[in-house]
Amino acid sequence: MNSKNINGFSKLSKEQKINWLVENFLENNQEHKNVLLQYWNKNLLLQKLHDEFAENTLTNFYIPFGIAPNFLIDGNFYAIPMAVEESSVVAGASKSAKFWSDKGGFKTTVISTTKLGHTHFIFNPEENSFEQLNAFFNSVLKQKLLEATEGITANMRKRGGGILDIELIDKTNEMEGYYQLKASFDTVDSMGANFINSCLEQFGKTLTEEIQNSDLFSNQEKESLQVIMNILSNYTPDCIVRAEVSCPIDEFIDDSGIEPQLFAQKFQQAVQIAEIEPFRATTHNKGIMNGIDAVVIATGNDFRAVESCAHAYASRNGKYSSLTHCEVKDNTFRFWIDLPISIGVVGGLTSLHPLVKTALAILGNPNAKELMSICAVSGLAQNFAAIRSLVTTGIQKGHMKMHLLNILNQLGATEEEKHYFTIFFKDKTVTHHSVVSEFNRLRKK
Ligand code: MEV
Repeated sequence: MNSKNINGFSKLSKEQKINWLVENFLENNQEHKNVLLQYWNKNLLLQKLHDEFAENTLTNFYIPFGIAPNFLIDGNFYAIPMAVEESSVVAGASKSAKFWSDKGGFKTTVISTTKLGHTHFIFNPEENSFEQLNAFFNSVLKQKLLEATEGITANMRKRGGGILDIELIDKTNEMEGYYQLKASFDTVDSMGANFINSCLEQFGKTLTEEIQNSDLFSNQEKESLQVIMNILSNYTPDCIVRAEVSCPIDEFIDDSGIEPQLFAQKFQQAVQIAEIEPFRATTHNKGIMNGIDAVVIATGNDFRAVESCAHAYASRNGKYSSLTHCEVKDNTFRFWIDLPISIGVVGGLTSLHPLVKTALAILGNPNAKELMSICAVSGLAQNFAAIRSLVTTGIQKGHMKMHLLNILNQLGATEEEKHYFTIFFKDKTVTHHSVVSEFNRLRKK
């Protein structure tokens, strides 16, 4: 058997896993082995905690945990924790926070917090049975579904949430015999994925039992029932928060010296381009997600869910478009984001990861709605920073200044050399080439 093909890998100890990997995929290179070992935490309890977050853990993968201070949100100042590896993101957020802190800050509104999930099933594909099913749903099934999930929903109901509604949806014009039980949920301060999926799996079972036990359906109809799957939807267009900033045009002043009216006009046109042009919208929204994901990760939430939801929402009108919008009217500049985001402050990693607990404490232990607002603000701030640079100095000036340190680290520069380069490039454009040639020149000297 090829030793690259292994049975029972998950049962090996961490050391054995690393040894197998180094022997079979890293040509026994001890340097790579040392790198893997180097990231082990000396605090064994902490390391064990991290090992157990996922399967087949070998080591830790660090990303920087930074702070963007000076965020005035709904009248309170926040220092926002951001876990992100890309240079310029925390700096951009901080710069935007400072810009808006003396102009009233960011205002937010949580518009709704409803989450969705579905039992997807096939029934009697030979003909449309919606009317028959719907009569059964309204007279019997809906109540049975609620009763069957009472045990699962008891705690959530105590906290003010639970199942909000269940509907039967006819999808047969898109796929033969396809129906859904579409349920809406309020999961209060949790993201609620486990809660929603548990309810839905019970719906699948109850649906099957109730149809089998009903006199309303023929044997052939009963046999045709197939529950395909029960799963939450990460698309939550009704779990939505708005964050916005505004100021009089004459206060819309950029340090590049651009005239405020022109700055506002170019800014608004840049947003409009992202609204109509998917190629630009993708990059524009990527920049927004730089800010959102960093907070979502720092607070132990699921950034893949947040990403897929945001992009689905950005396409809701049939064409991928900007998540942010801008208006220049009546001598006022206004810039806002409507963001669907399903996140929590209890359950999952939020109660397990020590750094996540600290991040939430830094934010004053927000509830889920407040965290939705903070994420939306971070995305808006990030987008503001990007567009501000794009329509004035260009993005590379700030970006490459931040990237300078990465290039110098790659070149193995000393602290003294890093200091020299910071001064050297103060009034020059940083490019990879210019850094390398100055570095070589310096070293030759
Ligand atoms: C880079 O990570 C993000 C930007 O490209 C976003 C944008 O272009 O709006 C700067």
